[in-house]
Amino acid sequence: MNIANLKGIILAGGNGSRLSPLTDSFSKQLLPVYDKPMIYYPLSTLMLMGIKDILIITTKRDESLFKNLLGNGENLGIKISYKVQDKALGIPHAFILAEKFLINSKVVLILGDNIFYGHYLIGQLIDSVNKDSEATIFAYRVKDPSRFGIINFDKDQHPISIEEKPKSSKSDFAITGLYIYKSNVVEFAKQLKPSKRGELEISDLNKIYMRKNKLNVEVLGRGIAWLDTGTFESLQDASLFIKTIEMRQGLKIGCPEEVAWRLKYINDEKFEDITSKYLNSPYGNYLQKILNEKNP
Ligand code: DAU
Repeated sequence: MNIANLKGIILAGGNGSRLSPLTDSFSKQLLPVYDKPMIYYPLSTLMLMGIKDILIITTKRDESLFKNLLGNGENLGIKISYKVQDKALGIPHAFILAEKFLINSKVVLILGDNIFYGHYLIGQLIDSVNKDSEATIFAYRVKDPSRFGIINFDKDQHPISIEEKPKSSKSDFAITGLYIYKSNVVEFAKQLKPSKRGELEISDLNKIYMRKNKLNVEVLGRGIAWLDTGTFESLQDASLFIKTIEMRQGLKIGCPEEVAWRLKYINDEKFEDITSKYLNSPYGNYLQKILNEKNP
């Protein structure tokens, strides 16, 4: 896969109504997950995959907040652009909004409220991008499948059904919020009709690929953590998880400045420059520390 033709989308709009009143005047994807804004985690995942051209889709209300935080991405050695989604018309609506951005490109869409962490995760994601499949989704075993899109397999592990938040589920495998498609996804997204709740459904999009036998499903194993932040409890759990690992290792999870520097998207000088912005916070102290460790 030519990395120049690989683009990323972070979907960071929606009403966040399940987290109201936290989200009544503020973007859900900017809420803190332990020590950093939620969007840092999916952003870091895309960057670790080598993606340097990223579109953030958000609401008119919150666009300026994201721009204040991340700008055009230059500080991270990447390109970030923005698109407003006026109404939460569904996850696949992102591809319609991004039509021009996606010309001739493969795309990784990640939901702005999904956190992925674990051993060989990035290697698995990169291997999946490099496969010549039209669509790749990632399944993960969960205890409470009715909260998610669910995929069911036959005995040979071929996907046979996809259901969005079924009341009783045929499978324990949730479909995570990271999706890889070839650029023809835009055409398929345009063919979708809104569901009863008035949204284009990502599960309907994936069913199109499944019926054509073009859906590659990768299972993320139990050594990987996939955390969602859709409820007060899961938001709190995600914060505690990040805190526990960070306190144990003294290393940060989902720190885009660190990723940019370690992957050499930015040089030491630029990194030091960014670091100085945060000097009064432990976040800045951490960035300084890792810079000094490399240059004792
Ligand atoms: O987290 C994985 C799950 O994400 C999947 O298992 C489900 O199949 C998928 O439908 C989705 O379920 P959610 O209930 O989490 O979807 P939600 O409507 O909350 O949207 C997910 C994120 O995308 C959320 O942070 C808001 C954002 N979003 C959503 C919609 C519908 C937008 O920015 N625009 C939208 O139009």
